[in-house]
Order: sequence, then structure tokens, then C-alpha cells
Amino acid sequence: MCGIIAYVGDKYCKDIIINGLKRLEYRGYDSAGIAILIQNEKVIDKEQQDKEKEKNQNKDNNKNKDELIELIGNEPGNSSAVKILTAKQAGKIKDLEELLQGQNFDSHIGIGHTRWATHGAPTQINAHPHSDCIGKIVVVHNGIIENYAELKEELIQKGHKFISETDTEVLPHLLEEYKDGDFLLAMQKLIKRIKGSGAIVALNSDFPDEIVAARIASPLIIGIGKDGNFVASDMPAVLEHTRNFIIVNDFETIRLKKDSIEIFDIDGKLIQRDPFKVNWSITSAEKSGYEDFMLKEIFEQPFGIKETMRGRLIDGNLQFEELNMTEEQIKNLNKIQIIACGTSSHAALLGKQLIERWARIPVEVEVSSEYRYKDPIVEKNCLFIAITQSGETIDTLAAIREAKSKGAKIVAITNVVGSTVARESDSVIYTHAGPEVGVCATKTFTAQIIVMYLMALYFGKITGHIDKEKYAKIIEELEFIPNKIQLILNDADKIKKIADHLYKYRTFLFLGRLSGLPIALEGALKLKEISYIHAEGYAGGEMKHGPIALTDTNTTVVGIVPKDFVYEKMLSNIEEVKARNATILTIATEGDDEIQKYSNYVFYIPSTIEELYGILTIIPLQLLAYYIAKNLGRNVDQPRNLAKSVTVE
Ligand code: F6R
Repeated sequence: MCGIIAYVGDKYCKDIIINGLKRLEYRGYDSAGIAILIQNEKVIDKEQQDKEKEKNQNKDNNKNKDELIELIGNEPGNSSAVKILTAKQAGKIKDLEELLQGQNFDSHIGIGHTRWATHGAPTQINAHPHSDCIGKIVVVHNGIIENYAELKEELIQKGHKFISETDTEVLPHLLEEYKDGDFLLAMQKLIKRIKGSGAIVALNSDFPDEIVAARIASPLIIGIGKDGNFVASDMPAVLEHTRNFIIVNDFETIRLKKDSIEIFDIDGKLIQRDPFKVNWSITSAEKSGYEDFMLKEIFEQPFGIKETMRGRLIDGNLQFEELNMTEEQIKNLNKIQIIACGTSSHAALLGKQLIERWARIPVEVEVSSEYRYKDPIVEKNCLFIAITQSGETIDTLAAIREAKSKGAKIVAITNVVGSTVARESDSVIYTHAGPEVGVCATKTFTAQIIVMYLMALYFGKITGHIDKEKYAKIIEELEFIPNKIQLILNDADKIKKIADHLYKYRTFLFLGRLSGLPIALEGALKLKEISYIHAEGYAGGEMKHGPIALTDTNTTVVGIVPKDFVYEKMLSNIEEVKARNATILTIATEGDDEIQKYSNYVFYIPSTIEELYGILTIIPLQLLAYYIAKNLGRNVDQPRNLAKSVTVE
């Protein structure tokens, strides 16, 4: 999970790295650190530095500053003229930035890290970068070194000194062991010794004009800039400098200088790889006046949906060339297996209903973390679909590998071009939601749902199970969906007012049936992950089999009750909880006056056809979670204990 950025070039590196870390903070935010090479101790702006020092003199935390910022490399045995400035801090990037105020050294090469702790608490000592014994080598790392205990023991026997509780600290010491020859060679030896996962980036004061890096199963990209080059965990970190990227693959090592990029395979052979260009803009990775990324991303949904439909829904016809499947192959499918985690698994559950209804192909949905360990049966003529917004979720990746090893052909649905899942799949359907920075998935979810709608219709048409009129009607209605979502967003204030009343409740039950069920699960997930209130999603009809015992005056029930196939059934379920004194919020179709009798609060959505309500009903639930969390003073973009892409098991 963690985020990494490194830069080598003509510009001063400190601010480039700090700004890059801010854009990566969604990956981990419990501590952060930076290391820059100092060729000479010339300060860029001495006057400014003195002023800031003076200003900081009175601050309490200033007494610790010397411990937090260190010029390392003065240790006995280090003959290098170049020194390394490191600064590490528990807390957010802004704390690190404050710490570094006034440290304006003339440095053009550096690395930075924002951490999501796996081994060792989120303390200053455990924050990255970590260094070798004499302060020549510094390393940042995203991943887990599974054999670190054994490596640490071996290194201690050889006299290496460790100071942190992290698995990462073995890496600079291993590089120190392998220091003969050039630095890249040391990295190439290192990746053969470690088990687990890692994007590893290192600096060495003996090689002051190069960054070396390696990738084993954690994302790493190279950004090619005009005034220098970058390595980072993710493209938004460097979008303000470049849109030209190269993806680093597993077991590759790289050497980056200000005017050269070299990529090597596991055997140390130089590889040629062409860069690609992304059309994401920097404003799409910024808040653009919204208070939080999450709110901005909720409001971007009409656009993300249109973009995801673009090129696939043309003049009432569906095109799915990316699937790489002939009509014959689709007709011959006897099963579809979908795997995903979290929010993506809710899109999968909705997709199952749609594909089964319109194409009559049986669909099984399984969370990736279960699928991978169950010795799955991969049948002939079964299509395997993996849904993952980040394309990096380790459980989903492992499930794909398991299925592939048993002969499955994989179709990935992801939002990130060049992500690991995209590269390891046989075909990829990209959602075009734009970069999602808030940890809580919103616009990527609705873009996934759109892909599910389009794919189910496409399969339905080919298998001949959806009648022509119905098909045409759904397609026509789909084109109105972005505008209908916009209408809901225009009413965001109404949800805010409801949230102002409901935020004090400690238990929320979200009830839905058919398409309402995955939405109930997703609504509950949104609420719990950003507000930390206990929330569960249930099938309306299941309440009487247990959960209704929870209902009393302290419970809020959110009923998803659009005018769909199960409207009447849902009314009965809502009545049951109302009779037990729960407070009821219903999400209902405009013009439904009847629902008022059952509800303390109603939020109306525009009407659509039965099967399409899922994508409309989720919007008020995202807003509800957002406003409740804001009422409680939560950090909605960076909820506690979570990270945007889950690259550890
Ligand atoms: C919830 C959320 C997570 C992710 C899950 C899978 O808001 O974001 O539940 O959906 O971690 O992530 P991806 O889709 O990247 O595989």
C-alpha cells in the first residue's frame, strides 16, 4: 500500500518529492519521509532559510527537529563526498513538509515515501527511507519482505546494525553487502534474495547521479519529464510534470539518470520498452475547489459514466471489441465467474443479476480472497472476469493467477491503464472514470456498473435472450442516466439536511432487494468506512431471519425502495422495521407519495426502468455517507486503517 516517488533532473527535488507524496497520500498516510543527496551544502535561499528557522525557534516541536532531520553519511567508513539529508515524521505529509521548511538545499536527486504500516508501528523510526550502516545507501519500499526475519538474522551475524522494526530495513543492508561493482548490480542481486513483494527505490551517495529501483509485484511506473525523470507508485504523483510513462514489470530493475532510463530483465539484460501517453489532466487529480476528493469524485460521476459509455455505445449499438471474443464463443459460454473485492464485488453482484436476466448465462461471484484458496474448478467455456478499480489489489491478482494456471482466459475491468491486473489479463475493459484519489470508491463504482450494464446487454443480444424492443428501450434509457445522476447531485443539499439529523445514530441497516441488495451492501460499506458507524447491508426479506432483532429506537434503517420489480415486497419489509421503532430513510422514485407513510425521511430519485435503478440509488447513499462522516469530523479522503490500493494480503 505505501506510496513512492523519486526524481532525478535539473530542478530542485525537495518540492517535487513533497508534492508527489501529497498526491500519493491516498496510498498510506501514517508516516512519511524523504531523502535527498546533497552534493554541497549550498542553500538555495539562505535568507528565507534563516527566517524560517527563526520562526520555528519558538515552536515546541522544534526541539526534536534535529532528530527528525539528519544529514547522514558522516559515519566511519563512509568516504563519499556526497551526503544524504533524510527527514522522517510520523503523521501526514503536511507534517513532513512543515519539518522541512527552511531546508532548501541545492539538490536534484531524491526519494520520498508515504507509509501504510505493515511491520512495525507508524513511528518516526519505522518511517522510510531506511539506511545502511554507514549512511551511504537509503531505500524506500512498498510491499512486504516475507523472508525478512531470516535475512535480518543473517545480516546481524555479519555485523549489520538495525534500528527499526520494519521488514524494509533489510534492503539497504543487503545492498550494502552487495556493494562491490555498480549499484544496479547490487539491486539485481538483492531481488533474487527476497521473497514477497516490493517496489524498491534506492539512492547511494557513491553514485550521486542515479536512482536504482526494482519491482516485484508492487506497482512502479517511470515518468519521462522534460527536465528529468521520475519513478513512482502511481501516475498522478507526477502528472504535473509529465504524461509520458513506462510501466516497470515484475523482476525488472531500472537505472534512472537525468537524461537516461535503462530497464533490465531478471538476467540483467537491457530491455527496450516504448513509453505511452495518458490523457489524464492534472486538474482531474486535484480537488478543483471541492472540500474533499470524495465529494469531487461523487460529483464527477455523470462525466465518468459518459466517458465509460463513449466508444462502446454508438448510435444505439454496442461495441465490445476489447473483449476479444467472437459471437460463437459468447454463445458457447456456459458460465461466467466474476472475482473482485469490496466495492468492486458489489458491482460484480449487480452484474450477475443483469447478465443472468438478459443473457441467461449463469454467473458466480466470489470475493478474490476466498476464491484463491478454494482450489477452484475452472470449467471449459467459462469466462473469468476480474473487477478492480486500481488493478493492483493483491488478492484479485492472486485469484487471476490461480485461475490462469488452470487454463482460464481472463477479462479485466479496471480504471488504471497499465496496472498489473490489466497486464496479466487476456483482455481489458477500461472504465474511464479518471483518477480516483479518495480512498472510498465512488466514481469507479458507477463506471464499473455501467460496464456491467453494457456487457450484460451485449451478451443478451448475442445469445438472443433479450427481446429487441426491450434492448432498444434499455439502451435509450442508459443514455439518460448521466443526466439523471446530475439531477440527484443537484439535490445534494437535501441529503445533507437528512444527514444532519441522522449522524447521531450508532446503527444503520441498509435494506434492498434484487438490484437494491448490492446497493444496500455498498451503501453500508460507504458509511462504515468513512464514518466508522456500524452499518450492515441486508436483503429486505432476510430481516425476519435474524437482523430484525437489532431494530429499536437507536437504529436507522435505510430502505432502497424504487419502483422496480420488488417495490411492494420492500414496502412490507420497511413496515416490519417501522413497527419496531426504527427511524426510516427511504430512497424512492419521484412521484411515489405512498412511501411517505412508511418513512421519517424520503429522498426522491428520477424514475427509470426497473433494471437501471441500481446506478441511481447508490448516489444518495454515497452522499449520505459523506455528509454523516463530515458531521462527525472524519477525514473522508483518508479514513483510518484504509488505503486506496490493497497490495498486501
Ligand atoms: C471501498 C473500497 C474498497 C475497494 C477494494 C477493492 O470504498 O474502495 O472496498 O473496492 O479494496 O479495490 P479494487 O477495486 O482496487 O480491487
